[in-house]
Amino acid sequence: MKELFNEYVKSIDTYIMFRIKQEAANLTPELEAKGRAPIALAMGAPVAPPPQFVYDKLTEALKTPQIHTYSTPKGEAFFLEAIAKRMKNRFGVELDPKTEIFSLIGSKEGLANFIRALINPTTNPAEQDVILVPDPGYASYTQMIKTSGGKSYGIPLTKADNYMPDMNKIWQKMLQDGINPAKVKAMVINYPSNPLGATCTKEYLKHIVDFCREKQIWLISDAAYCDIYFDENQKPHSVLEIEGAKDVAVEFYSFSKPYSMTGFRLGWVCGNADAVGAFGRLKSTIDTGLFKALQKCAAEVLNAKEGDDYIKAANKSFKEKQMIVINGFRELGWQIKDEDIPSATFYIWLPIPPRYKKSTDFTSDVLKTSGIVLVPGNAFGNNGEGFFRLSAVASDDQLKETINRLKQDGFVYNV
Ligand SMILES: Cc1ncc(COP(=O)(O)O)c(C=O)c1O
Repeated sequence: MKELFNEYVKSIDTYIMFRIKQEAANLTPELEAKGRAPIALAMGAPVAPPPQFVYDKLTEALKTPQIHTYSTPKGEAFFLEAIAKRMKNRFGVELDPKTEIFSLIGSKEGLANFIRALINPTTNPAEQDVILVPDPGYASYTQMIKTSGGKSYGIPLTKADNYMPDMNKIWQKMLQDGINPAKVKAMVINYPSNPLGATCTKEYLKHIVDFCREKQIWLISDAAYCDIYFDENQKPHSVLEIEGAKDVAVEFYSFSKPYSMTGFRLGWVCGNADAVGAFGRLKSTIDTGLFKALQKCAAEVLNAKEGDDYIKAANKSFKEKQMIVINGFRELGWQIKDEDIPSATFYIWLPIPPRYKKSTDFTSDVLKTSGIVLVPGNAFGNNGEGFFRLSAVASDDQLKETINRLKQDGFVYNV
């Protein structure tokens, strides 16, 4: 068949996490034969089961008459109202469930379709719309922008400014790099951050809101990890807490990480009513909404004590896992200061040993030798080169086994 697929699709590869998974699967017989069966630390998917409460409510919901029929793309009223209640209790943010909230088939779908709703597709680089994305950042953003016919511009996140760059400086640099400011449609922020585990202050969120209001661009806040944190005094904020945020911002939420409901595919977007409305019109032409039984159990867990207790216990366990890994890498020679240990997310972001030139050289060596599945930092953007990401989501035993293998196989930092 002659090539009929569009330029955007032709230019992308399968998403990095699935490629890594496949590579590990291909190597499994060989690794098993030498006692190094793969330990999966690449995907950001908690392994613990979701709260039992969710299964109980789901089972109950399945018995409801007509539960099998189409929902609406927007979501059932009870689902949207439960979200509004959660946003009020967790952040003090008031939302109108009728106009300011929309259901998602997971936040990845929502982000992709929101980006699609913004970009006028073209393959001509000079004409392309631009979205600013964190670099390093969630690998999907750039791919979503590319397949929508736009281009991304990386906002460098560096330790020097605590991963909170001054956006006015970034804008100046962007102009010097020849980006047409009239083409910039939006910027994406993701705190707590994948892959860095970095958080930001409320003052910084205000800086971002003010910046987007001044530049008249949409602010897309990806809050997938807002409930994975380790310090009650430093709970991540919603950008919608900032005065004026609703003029420019939409925020994306997910049930995947806090409740370990990755496979349920549930999330929501909330914020500016015009943006939610435009997104909703697009969604209504390509999707018919979430299974009502899933909406039911999700709505219940959001405001239940069982849900909050689950999150607390999960965070305690993530912290323990984080410290198993951090202490393990310290023993292997990595210099990790206490203040650099993330206070949120289950990600650990470390430099590759200096003897390796590229991130992929290191992660590929570790996989082939020790069966440990990591993600090379460059998968998250140019600024990720020289680093790797580990998701501390496996069992404690597997994490300890990871460190033992790395020790036995000589993966120390400074050799
Ligand atoms: C930053 C970030 N945003 C969004 C997602 C998508 O999550 P989901 O589609 O499961 O809600 C992920 C998943 O890893 C992520 O890391």
